[in-house]
Amino acid sequence: MGATVVVGGQWGDEGKAKIVDFLMSEHDVVIRYQGGANAGHTVVSHDGKFAFHLIPSGVLFPHITGVLGSGMVIDPFGFIDEFQQLVTRGIDLEGRVMISSSAHVVMPYHKIVDNLLEAELKDKKIGSTGKGIGPAYTDKYSRKGMRFSSFMLDKEDLFEEVKTRVDFANRFLEVFNAPKSSAEKIAADFANIKEIISHFVVDLHEKVTEFKKDGKRILLEGAQGTLLDIDHGTYPYVTSSSCTIGGALSGSGLNHRDISKVVGIFKSYVTRVGNGPFPTELPGEEGQILRDRGAEYGTTTGRPRRCGWFDVVAARYAVELNGITDIALTKLDVLSGYKTVKIATSYQLDGKRIDKFPQDVESLRRCVPVYEEIEGWQGDLDASSFDGLPDGAKKYVERLERELGTKITYISTGPERKRMIVR
Ligand code: GDP
Ligand code: IMO
Ligand code: MG
Repeated sequence: MGATVVVGGQWGDEGKAKIVDFLMSEHDVVIRYQGGANAGHTVVSHDGKFAFHLIPSGVLFPHITGVLGSGMVIDPFGFIDEFQQLVTRGIDLEGRVMISSSAHVVMPYHKIVDNLLEAELKDKKIGSTGKGIGPAYTDKYSRKGMRFSSFMLDKEDLFEEVKTRVDFANRFLEVFNAPKSSAEKIAADFANIKEIISHFVVDLHEKVTEFKKDGKRILLEGAQGTLLDIDHGTYPYVTSSSCTIGGALSGSGLNHRDISKVVGIFKSYVTRVGNGPFPTELPGEEGQILRDRGAEYGTTTGRPRRCGWFDVVAARYAVELNGITDIALTKLDVLSGYKTVKIATSYQLDGKRIDKFPQDVESLRRCVPVYEEIEGWQGDLDASSFDGLPDGAKKYVERLERELGTKITYISTGPERKRMIVR
């Protein structure tokens, strides 16, 4: 059996973590391949609700090894906090969590710069989570970043690594008249956690080779979603990493021959946090109704999520781009109770009907969705099989399946583990 990739099909918060957790029974290793603490991944287990930001969502099961992959940017203090919180809640993680030596360190000043850059944008703000993600990736790609391998250095060399970077960052902060960072303070803080962190750091290529040799079943966990991808999303209203299939490979070190299944996660409707175009967004009261029904408030920032109807045009784009082999449709229960539900099957752009997702954000902004109205369904969706769902819900799933030309293998009907239908 090859590896499974889990990729978000929309603008994030599709319910990836719930599906990752569900798929763990047939995997041994989970590797988070990109992003950082901008992610908020919720799993509801027998022991209650867990919110993951950096640690892969699959680690609640004791047989799982969780790896923070090379494509990630990680705040080491945030990592230690998250790790300790899990341990405090009774999750034994001893020897089961690893960090790639190539993953990048989110420095304290990255968060400051993130907020300064957002403030500069005035009414064109991206709506960043303020976790320092953009600046950490900027440093990575300008080859000025610090990697986790640096925690293996002795204290003097670690200090030099930190000092070079802080000096550079301070020249940048000066432009904004912002307070300077202290290399001494950051280096001392890093020296304090050096022993703890280096305990987690591994050579990921070596590990992956070992996993494959031992026949371990690997799952690659994505954060954010296709439409937030730096190259393929609604740029510039995106995150700074590769959330799609390309990022899954580069961020984990697996290659295309290792992958046998790509599971695309789609919510039964669409949400978006932060700014940027969103053709099927429901403004006003209609949006608020969906937000309340779906409890659509951010896991990381608590911000209300923008809500709208399912967008087939955008979803088809995500299916094609990622080579999605199986779809997991989540939160179907949230649509229960509507007399009718809508799906956008094409857009109207400057007087023309189009069915392709535009690559430029200004065109997307002008797109008006063309809806089809479908009969709704009522009642609780607590069914163990597809046949047990109300007729309307079944038709909705089958309709999306036809529109997307891809099997909807998993249907999630509630946050809890047992609320899952496999077809
Ligand atoms: P992720 O970032 O893609 O992992 O998604 P989030 O965890 O940010 O947001 C999904 C939210 O929906 C979480 O609060 C989940 O517990 C919840 N959830 C997941 N699947 C379902 C479902 O099928 N129905 C309902 N009602 N909630 C769900
Ligand atoms: P998960 O993994 C939803 C959004 C932010 C903002 C943009 C850039 O839980 O699905 P960043 O801090 O990354 O520079 O912000 O991306 N964003 C997310 N939206 N879910 C997420 O993660 C997100 N991570 C970032 O709201 O619009
Ligand atoms: Mg989330």
